[in-house]
Amino acid sequence: MTARSLPPIYALTDRRASGVSAAENVRIFVEAGIRCVQIREKDLPGRDLLAEASAAAALARRAGARLLVDDRPDVARIVACGVHLGEDDLPAGAARALLGPEALIGVSTHDPDAARRAFDDPAADYVAFGPVFATPVKGGRTPAGVEALARVAAFRTKPLVAIGGISLDRLEAVWDAGADSAAMIGAVNGADAAARARSAVELARRRFLPRKIWLVGFMGSGKTTIGRIVSRRLGLPFFDLDAEIEAASSMPVRAIFETEGEAEFRRRERAYVEGSLAIPEGVFAAGGGTFAAEGNRRAILRQGISVFLDVPFEVLASRVPARADRPLFEGAEQARRLLEERLPFYRMAGLSVPLTGGETPEDSAEELLRRLEERTCVI
Ligand code: S3P
Repeated sequence: MTARSLPPIYALTDRRASGVSAAENVRIFVEAGIRCVQIREKDLPGRDLLAEASAAAALARRAGARLLVDDRPDVARIVACGVHLGEDDLPAGAARALLGPEALIGVSTHDPDAARRAFDDPAADYVAFGPVFATPVKGGRTPAGVEALARVAAFRTKPLVAIGGISLDRLEAVWDAGADSAAMIGAVNGADAAARARSAVELARRRFLPRKIWLVGFMGSGKTTIGRIVSRRLGLPFFDLDAEIEAASSMPVRAIFETEGEAEFRRRERAYVEGSLAIPEGVFAAGGGTFAAEGNRRAILRQGISVFLDVPFEVLASRVPARADRPLFEGAEQARRLLEERLPFYRMAGLSVPLTGGETPEDSAEELLRRLEERTCVI
């Protein structure tokens, strides 16, 4: 069995608190960007649970999220999802025999010794430990506290999920203690569930996604517009290479090209990229030619992650001529050749985000963040 990672947020359904069905709850979670969800409806009759789980499994599959069902390997087998097992449920080995090698299987533990045994159990993919904080859900158990969580994290050999009383404002403490994932129940059910689920995702992104991101791609691909949104979402400063060069030169890019020549523009571009090595974090929008130059590329590839906004030429062509500030966009045929020359370089970026060009900038930014999560194993 291969080691599996878990995303930093793991949401559990609670139809009583949320007032919606488990499947609807799963929909709310995955739409908020949560990529690991457990159906935990202990008193739902078997046939109802099965119906909810199979609807949720379809939703989760479409969203690329993991789904687990609490306590019930039989239901997990029928709907082809994972299972989370409590200490009184079937042992992980039995569930593995039923579900096969691919299914995600997690086990609950309530003290460090049990956690140690669970880490040693080859059938368990992850170990949940808690309650970390006091919670009404875990029936009066004494909370273990973040110190105990940190002790367990120190000997973990598989993903560790912290559970119990984890509110939005406790997420950082739980991740600081070494938990790979924070299980949330109360905090993401009830009033404002969707908004709080989105806040949890936002916190995870700010903490786990790279803090230095370079957007590269052709003129008109949206590097500046999308970069600005991504920077806001991640709480990072935004830098636009062309704007930086224009500010430092006190003239527009076109004027630099016309009065000083392209070579001088490239020299300033190169100097900016070198200088950016000293900037600790931020979202950077490159110029269309920046990443095609080897020296720039090498410097950018050494920083955080580079992202290629891959937009069809027809869309780029329809966007660019409307503006007179791109000296290197002289006409459709010339621009198409230039794009073709540069595509092999753009494709050297750490991540490519294919866009049709029909998305809103917000949706394009969301798509970029989602792919970044995948690429950096945050999901
Ligand atoms: C250029 C693209 C422009 C700007 C300059 C050169 C290029 O940036 O850097 O006009 O070589 O493709 P944008 O891609 O932001 O338009």
